[in-house]
Amino acid sequence: MPHFKALRVHQGLNGRFASLESVSLDELTPGEVVVRVAYSGLNYKDALAITGKGSIMRAYPRTAGIDLAGVVEHSEHAAFKAGDRVLATGAGLGEWLDGGLAEYARLPAQALVPLPPSLTLFDAMALGTAGFTAALALTRMLENHQSPELGPIAVTGATGGVGGIALGLYRQAGFATVAITGKAGAEEYLHALGADRVIERQHLDLGGKPLEQAVWGGAVDNLGGEMLTYLTRTVKPWGNIACIGLAESPLLNTTVMPLILRGVSLLGIHSVEVPRQWRLKLWERLAGEWKLTDLKGRIVRAVLGLEEVPLACKELIAGRARGRYVVRLAAEELDPPQR
Ligand SMILES: NC(=O)c1ccc[n+]([C@@H]2O[C@H](COP(=O)([O-])OP(=O)(O)OC[C@H]3O[C@@H](n4cnc5c(N)ncnc54)[C@H](OP(=O)(O)O)[C@@H]3O)[C@@H](O)[C@H]2O)c1
Repeated sequence: MPHFKALRVHQGLNGRFASLESVSLDELTPGEVVVRVAYSGLNYKDALAITGKGSIMRAYPRTAGIDLAGVVEHSEHAAFKAGDRVLATGAGLGEWLDGGLAEYARLPAQALVPLPPSLTLFDAMALGTAGFTAALALTRMLENHQSPELGPIAVTGATGGVGGIALGLYRQAGFATVAITGKAGAEEYLHALGADRVIERQHLDLGGKPLEQAVWGGAVDNLGGEMLTYLTRTVKPWGNIACIGLAESPLLNTTVMPLILRGVSLLGIHSVEVPRQWRLKLWERLAGEWKLTDLKGRIVRAVLGLEEVPLACKELIAGRARGRYVVRLAAEELDPPQR
């Protein structure tokens, strides 16, 4: 493969910009394993990198894309051989490593996970970092004694990738779920994903006291800012809040009251540098006990070509998108014809 297509982000004199280019393997960051990429996916972080709105990459130019799923083309590491089906989420892709929005990627073996047999390459990218992060949040909450008896789990940014998959996963794990969304008219969509109840963000009384009436057993927050502050005031004693995102704001303006008077825990969720054993275990759960059915019909908004990615990223930044964008990189189908 002398040259192949890649979506690269550059730092120019007038700021960062993305361009679709022809590159060779030699131009990529080093790694022992070359992967023919079947699919990637778009996350909010990809949108920040590709639109230039966020400082995501550690050096330029870099291939964008924090996720990929594909087939090993060549390996100089004993853990992988040509023909193996693999996936990668986070682990430095699209940040300090060249990422997955390209026909080929060259990665350290450490960044790769063997594709669990019950998932297709497509499924892996329908989940992507969004699904992995939702599973990490659920795991951390369960480890900290979150139980369905405590009450329903509020999920903010519910029509987004992380939020939408979280609704399904928490439901699968036995929790009642409440979707909190900024979008009018999303009820049917959110119920289909796993929401027991849907609340429009505009209709919530956010209150102002350090402690308001406690109504949520726990929460999954993708927004930060006022919404996260509200959740700290309203989660019940011993509940957990998984702090995932900052789509609204990176700020958190609260007090210690919920922590010391209700025993509420704010759990940090970081999906990039995750200990390998956790990573493998989380994918095992996503492919097993927490496996979501009909990802394509329920959570995938569209399957895009590489040239359609910049426009989709603008939709993500504007908060207009619903669900997940999967990006197809290989011209022919690399998944087996049927499962
Ligand atoms: N900690 C980690 O490791 C990790 C991993 C993955 C993602 N994240 C972060 O988690 C967040 C969600 O990621 P994602 O991939 O699910 O993003 P996404 O698919 O773009 O969804 C974000 C959702 O947040 C809401 N939203 C978007 N812009 C908003 C704004 N300006 N104000 C208020 N709400 C807004 C929208 O949902 P509604 O309209 O339904 O409210 C939108 O669908 C992002 O901040 C992302 O960077 C963090």
